[in-house]
Amino acid sequence: MARLRIGVLISGRGSNLQALLDTAADPAYPAQIVCAISNRADAAGLARAEAAGVARHVVAIADRRAFAEAADRILRAAGVELVALAGFMRLLDAGFVEAWRDRMLNIHPSLLPAFPGLHAQRQALAAGVKFAGCTVHFVRPAVDSGPIVAQAVVPVEDGDDEASLSARILAAEHRLYPWAIRLYAEGRLRIDGDRVFAAGAGAPLFAALNPAEPLASPGG
Ligand code: GAR
Repeated sequence: MARLRIGVLISGRGSNLQALLDTAADPAYPAQIVCAISNRADAAGLARAEAAGVARHVVAIADRRAFAEAADRILRAAGVELVALAGFMRLLDAGFVEAWRDRMLNIHPSLLPAFPGLHAQRQALAAGVKFAGCTVHFVRPAVDSGPIVAQAVVPVEDGDDEASLSARILAAEHRLYPWAIRLYAEGRLRIDGDRVFAAGAGAPLFAALNPAEPLASPGG
């Protein structure tokens, strides 16, 4: 079976790009990364693409429409079928979002629709939530909005600061994004309005409490 051709948009570190490159290194994975585009020339993620032998492009154009046109040309020339935003920190042109509608995913470090925008982990700590996490969603014009494909939950611990919570969420991101893209690549996702259904992927049967309830003592 032909593997789905993915183009990844980044702005920085690129650890999610790395997770996708690592996963796609397995020829049995149903998708491959064919190009990486950064809006910043100094994005560390560009070196990750290069090390993996993936075409990398810098499109450092401030104008939103001009950026979109250049990125779109690169994606189409590479035969990209799915765009994956991975730490891409610029607003996208509405026409670009429409052109890639239902063929563009984003990952965000919160349980959307809570805490969109910048510093999602800091927002979660400030709000005092007991669980945080990350979301993979189809992209719509409003920031960090669109039908949700998958989410991962992590607890907020009493001693957490922004760095420790971000690290826990990031580890979950690195598992969630390759999994969500697998579901897409295997044609298992169906979008119905704001909801997304994944064929053959069961809901996890668990409930989590934080603070955790102590286990009942025997006989008690
Ligand atoms: C990730 O935590 C990603 O979820 C977040 O930026 C980080 C990029 O890290 N994206 C957003 O906040 C999008 N609104 P990475 O460059 O190491 O993948």
